[in-house]
Amino acid sequence: ENHQNREQLLAGKKVLISAGPTREKVDPVRFFTNRSSGKMGYALAEVAAELGAEVTLVSGPVSEQVNHPRIKRIDVLTAEEMYEAMHANYANQDIVIKAAAVADYRPKLVHDQKVKKQDGNLQIEMERTKDILKSLGEMKTNQFLVGFAAETNNPMDYGKKKLLQKHLDAIVINDVSAEGAGFEGDTNMVTYLNEAMQQDEVSLASKREVATRILEFIDRDMKDE
Ligand code: CTP
Ligand code: CA
Repeated sequence: ENHQNREQLLAGKKVLISAGPTREKVDPVRFFTNRSSGKMGYALAEVAAELGAEVTLVSGPVSEQVNHPRIKRIDVLTAEEMYEAMHANYANQDIVIKAAAVADYRPKLVHDQKVKKQDGNLQIEMERTKDILKSLGEMKTNQFLVGFAAETNNPMDYGKKKLLQKHLDAIVINDVSAEGAGFEGDTNMVTYLNEAMQQDEVSLASKREVATRILEFIDRDMKDE
């Protein structure tokens, strides 16, 4: 009967998730990206769908695949495209989770032709991308908004700051320097921190199990509001 309850946990809820890295072009053959595999975001999407939610998954370029019929996947490449897709789908969502690793900078100039090498050093000027999560926080109506924080040092301090500065309802703090946590692997270990500054530790487990715990905390905190 526990199984039955879990299947119904998010029944009828609309959940918007972003996952994976973004890709910022330099020229037709080169781009900047990061180590995100998308696995945590995809695990959240899959488990949310299994728990009854109707999921929209905005995905950067990853090798992960979705099978669940209640997941609608929207593929994007750049931070700008992710911004557009998240905002286009933001209204009427119950839960929004930003698990994506968005590029903070992109090349200021994108070359139409391949850049040829020359003697000496190359400098590429980078400009800031939009902070998608912060903009979603500023426009929040009824969505329960959850961010991720990927940190290598002082994870709790930086995580708390992001929760406040981006107007989040909760943040999943990921110490990516910890053994078994972070980018490419199939496991993770996180701290879930909500607006009331309540901390829940999720010890090392598969990304699917971590996703289940995160969704249970979210469900609990939505009921408390
Ligand atoms: N995020 C975003 N748009 C950006 C940068 C980050 O939506 N341009 C989101 C991420 O998806 C994540 C959260 O903000 O949910 C925190 O991302 P993180 O990289 O840890 O923090 P930043 O605010 O970018 O700060 P910094 O990289 O300097 O630690
Ligand atoms: Ca960042």
